[in-house]
Amino acid sequence: NNVFQGRSLLAEKDFTKEELQYLIDFSQHLKELKQKGIPHEYLKGKNIALLFEKTSTRTRAAFTTASIDLGAHPEYLGANDIQLGKKESTEDTAKVLGRMFDGIEFRGFSQKVVEELAEFSGVPVWNGLTDEWHPTQMIADFLTIQENFGKVEGITVAYCGDGRNNMAHSLLVTGAILGTNMRIVAPKELQPEAEIIEMAQTFAEKSGAELLITDDVNKGVAGANVLYSDVWVSMGEEDKFEERIKLLMPYQINMEMVHKTQNEDHLIFLHCLPAFHDTNTKYGEEIYKKFGIKEMEVTDEVFRSKYGRQFDQAENRMHSIKAIMAATLGNLFIPRV
Ligand code: CP
Ligand code: NVA
Repeated sequence: NNVFQGRSLLAEKDFTKEELQYLIDFSQHLKELKQKGIPHEYLKGKNIALLFEKTSTRTRAAFTTASIDLGAHPEYLGANDIQLGKKESTEDTAKVLGRMFDGIEFRGFSQKVVEELAEFSGVPVWNGLTDEWHPTQMIADFLTIQENFGKVEGITVAYCGDGRNNMAHSLLVTGAILGTNMRIVAPKELQPEAEIIEMAQTFAEKSGAELLITDDVNKGVAGANVLYSDVWVSMGEEDKFEERIKLLMPYQINMEMVHKTQNEDHLIFLHCLPAFHDTNTKYGEEIYKKFGIKEMEVTDEVFRSKYGRQFDQAENRMHSIKAIMAATLGNLFIPRV
């Protein structure tokens, strides 16, 4: 029987090491089918709702193309298109969507909303990012790590930057479950809350992952296999640029930091994207005018270097979202993991 059938993916903590590893391996398999042009329409005739309160390029595009490749019909329901959050409660919206759709993706602010959608819709709900977690991103990220190093266990990831955002939470907890050594390299003010660290520590005791939360860049990146960055200002906190730039400049991923790993032969750079690495956008120009900086979390030099795997990682969003949807909705035969 299928241990995934009918389940939602709301946060990584609800899945075992074996289950997460299965989703990574299944993503790899689906990527091979796609590359060979072999059809994989596990969700033929299904309807998928894509709810977005926040903007998105990768998550939306990945859910859309993944649905179509799996034979399903995706329907985008943006924040300004539907009643949710204005005229209708989450509970009522969930009950209606669950009568029409076979699965629901939600991206937004509150984790509570994605949990309520799962509670009241009666169909699998996939968290496409909330303020707290970004679980679908994790399957793509650890697939990318596995592609580069042949495994995720025992690999060392140093995430540098805002240690309190969704990405930091998800990487810390997912790495701890999977046995990947996780380091959060961040100033004290932006290190994860105790509750998240304790959750990760409990998982790490079981998996053997080594965890390190530090404001010391030298210690934090020494021996790392992956340098990982995310934006310094997440969606919904756009008033925080000034304080974040001040706090996080020492944590920028640049060539000096690459050298500090002393591990350049076994090193990759990852970023969930979008990235602020040059002023080549309207947004970038505004930041430059206001704060006089051309790069934030990663320099353009590192971004375009031989270490960069961020576009493989972006592509892997599609393969991994396919795996997540097919496993939870496809009535597939999946041996108990
Ligand atoms: N990484 C990621 O979630 O990208 P989008 O915000 O473009 O979906
Ligand atoms: N921390 C970022 C991730 C974007 C994929 C944000 O929430 O904006």
